[in-house]
Amino acid sequence: MRARVLSGRKIADEIIAEVAAEVADLREIHGFSPRLDVIRVGEDPASEVYVGNKVKMAAEVGIESRLHHLPAETTTDELLALVTELSNNDIVDGILVQLPLPDQIDERAVLEAVAADKDVDGFHPLNVGRLNLGHKALVPCTPAGVIEILKRSNIEIAGKHAVIVGRSNIVGKPMAALLLRENATVTICHSRTADLAAITRSAEILVAAIGRPAYIKAEHIGEGSTVIDVGINPFVDLNAVASTFPDEDVEKRLAAIEKRGSTLIGDVNQRDAMAKAANFTPVPGGVGLLTVAMLMKNTVDAAKTRRLNG
Ligand code: GUN
Repeated sequence: MRARVLSGRKIADEIIAEVAAEVADLREIHGFSPRLDVIRVGEDPASEVYVGNKVKMAAEVGIESRLHHLPAETTTDELLALVTELSNNDIVDGILVQLPLPDQIDERAVLEAVAADKDVDGFHPLNVGRLNLGHKALVPCTPAGVIEILKRSNIEIAGKHAVIVGRSNIVGKPMAALLLRENATVTICHSRTADLAAITRSAEILVAAIGRPAYIKAEHIGEGSTVIDVGINPFVDLNAVASTFPDEDVEKRLAAIEKRGSTLIGDVNQRDAMAKAANFTPVPGGVGLLTVAMLMKNTVDAAKTRRLNG
């Protein structure tokens, strides 16, 4: 089997175009632009890139955005004061606190201080509870993006065995809730799972969200399955390129490592997935692009619910 590559670019562009049209309607018909406030604390280099992408995309779709960059020594109380002010500010529709936060900050207190109706990350316990109860909720962007990839690629979810590797609050757990809502039969695996490969091989839809480069290999992948790769990791091993990437990518990956010291890979061995799966999301160019697109959609949804009652 040679997998169909599910382009995140194409699907993200579709969603972005839909969101931009909605934003234009809100402005023309209702006279306002949604506003997204993004908070970054400290100097995590990956967070700087992610936050930059979010603010740039907001501008492209016509969402007003503000970036609040706080120093690494910020205290919980200082961050809580900002989040509370934004929660109470009627002009703000969406609040996003980029994770991870520095160690001294009480992450839970901060996420709980975000007004639930402005919680465009879907991390507030009220939204987590609503999602799990099957009620209307703001839902986390990355797993919501995975559902969009599956639906817009005409991949059946109902009745299928979906296996998620990883149980984080950002991806694994909400992914399980969303797949269950779509009537999949859901299994969550994690670092303590016994005989991981036996379970993942039985997946018709496999979502890899572990945070380890190329961890999912041929032995983990069912023939003809759909493999969704949520990971974003640096890959540095020149000697392992030929056994990790498909033949046609080897040269450019080697060149990237030689030039920049690393190339990006997800949690899945791309050579193995391309050989065994029916559908596969690339890294880069897969799920990551959907995360930003879904954040824009959540911001518009939050603005409509809060300002127009839906
Ligand atoms: N860090 C990694 N992924 C995310 C995300 O989706 N939202 C936020 N706020 N932080 C993240």
